[in-house]
Amino acid sequence: MSMEVIIEAKNLGKTYKRGRSEVVHALDDINLKLYEAEMILLYGPSGSGKSTLLNVLSGLDNPTTGTIKFSGDDITEFNQKQLTDLRRNDVGFVFQAWELIDNLTAVENVEAPMYPESVPSNVLRTDAITLLRRLDLLDREYHYPKEMSGGEQQRVALARALIKRPKVIFADEPTGNLDSETGHLIMRLLKTVCRQGTAIIIATHDEELREYADRIIRLHDGKMTEERV
Ligand SMILES: Nc1ncnc2c1ncn2[C@@H]1O[C@H](COP(=O)(O)OP(=O)(O)OP(=O)(O)O)[C@@H](O)[C@H]1O
Ligand SMILES: [Mg+2]
Repeated sequence: MSMEVIIEAKNLGKTYKRGRSEVVHALDDINLKLYEAEMILLYGPSGSGKSTLLNVLSGLDNPTTGTIKFSGDDITEFNQKQLTDLRRNDVGFVFQAWELIDNLTAVENVEAPMYPESVPSNVLRTDAITLLRRLDLLDREYHYPKEMSGGEQQRVALARALIKRPKVIFADEPTGNLDSETGHLIMRLLKTVCRQGTAIIIATHDEELREYADRIIRLHDGKMTEERV
C-alpha cells in the first residue's frame, strides 16, 4: 500500500530577534515528510523548537524561509482566508493549554467545531458521545468545564480535535499534565485514529511514549535528526 504524503516541508527556517542584535534560529533547515496514517514523535530539550515547528507546519505561524506543501499546496503562499479554511477543515490541534468553552457542556464542546452542522444533530451527538466514552469520560458528557478536573478537560479537548476527522493532528505535550495511565489511554486512542489514516505529530518530553512512534525526530537548537525506531 502506498501512503500519500500529507505534509512536505523543505528548508524550513524560523529566526527570532532577541534583544538588539542576537538572532535565535528556532528552526534551522528542517526537511520533513509526513505521510498519512503515520505517527511522528518530536523530542528535544526546552527551547529546541518543537512548538515552533508545530506552529509553522500547521499554518499558525510563518516560517522565515522554506516551503510547506500541505496535500500538494504551498501554504506559505496562502492568504488569511485559505489559512483559516485549512485550520478549520484539515487540521486538529491539541495544545498544552487547552481551552474549552465555559458555558458549553463537555459534549457540546466536542460538537462545537462542527457548527453550523454538516451532519444531522443526532448523528453528531452519537459521534461526540462515542469519542468521550473512548476517552473514559462516561457520565461526564453533560458536565461543564469547571465541573471537571484538568485531565478530564484535556480529554474533552482531544475529542474536540478528533470530531472532524482531520487529515493531520498536531499535539503539543498532549500527555503533559496527566498521570501515566491516562497518558497511555490518550496515546492508544491517537494510535487508533492514526491507523485509520490521520497523520499525527506529537511534541513531547516523555520518553515512555516512544513505543507509539512510527518515526522519532529530535530537535536540537532548531536542527533535526531522525532516530531509528
Ligand atoms: N515569539 C517568539 N519571540 C522570540 N523568540 C521566540 C518566540 N517563540 C519562541 N522563541 C524562541 O525560539 C526557540 C524555540 O522555542 P519553542 O517554543 O519552539 O521551544 P520548545 O522546544 O517548544 O520548548 P518547550 O519544550 O519548553 O515547550 C526558543 O529559544 C524560544 O526562546
Ligand atoms: Mg513547546
